[in-house]
Amino acid sequence: MWLGGGGHGPGHLGSSPSAPPAPQAPAMWLYLLLVALVWALVWLVRDRRTLPCVKDKHVFITGCDSGFGNLLARRLARQGYRVLAACLTQDGADGLQRGCSGHLRTTLLDVTHSESIRRAAEWVRAEVGEKGLFGLVNNAGVATPMGPTEWMGIEDFRRVMAVNAFGAIEVTLALLPLLRRARGRVVNTSSVLARVAAAGWDAKLLWLPASYLPAAIVDFVLATILPKPAQRVR
Ligand SMILES: NC(=O)c1ccc[n+]([C@@H]2O[C@H](COP(=O)([O-])OP(=O)(O)OC[C@H]3O[C@@H](n4cnc5c(N)ncnc54)[C@H](OP(=O)(O)O)[C@@H]3O)[C@@H](O)[C@H]2O)c1
Repeated sequence: MWLGGGGHGPGHLGSSPSAPPAPQAPAMWLYLLLVALVWALVWLVRDRRTLPCVKDKHVFITGCDSGFGNLLARRLARQGYRVLAACLTQDGADGLQRGCSGHLRTTLLDVTHSESIRRAAEWVRAEVGEKGLFGLVNNAGVATPMGPTEWMGIEDFRRVMAVNAFGAIEVTLALLPLLRRARGRVVNTSSVLARVAAAGWDAKLLWLPASYLPAAIVDFVLATILPKPAQRVR
């Protein structure tokens, strides 16, 4: 009668017949490397896909009177996008329109007022028609007050949140049907201040929600209702 534990024959005692052989460490690393390489390759190929034509793509940008919004509006118009630029003031809108070549139209928008957002969304709908909205850039924002938390009152928090957080969220919600139609993208400008804590000044209390709340909500909403964009934007 054979009393051996299996493995490689009757002469090997002690190991269980059902236990699979333990993976060798180098083989495991090779396997992980292979997975990482395939993943990087897929990422690279996917990322190289670009839009064949941007001439019929509408992009709506908030806060275009000055700064990043103003620069982005001009740049996208130069590249051939159909730019819909929202400014807080008539002077800002006139200045942008005067100094810009390409397809650029302006409207007025205060992101802290629901009625203003509703009017701007109507205007965008009339501009984009059946095509829908390819891009929304939530750029309007304020950067003050900035300083030690103890110096700030609740009204300071409310003012920043009204523009940077709830403004961005309400504009996004108003434009979602148009974004959905074009499988659009939403870009938020937020601040590195959300990560700053230094020498008695912890900016996170205000800037973390102001910067990341819109991103979290927009990501969630888009991820649940929209198919993934198929192509990257240059
Ligand atoms: N510059 C930076 O280093 C930096 C760093 C991190 C994040 N950011 C963010 O990037 C975005 C743009 O910053 P920026 O430096 O270009 O500042 P900016 O020049 O002050 O631009 C902000 C724009 O938003 C407009 N705006 C202010 N309140 C508004 C409201 N209630 N409704 C609609 N528009 C409103 C401003 O209009 P007026 O000019 O008429 O006031 C201005 O056109 C902001 O969201 C900001 O928080 C900037």
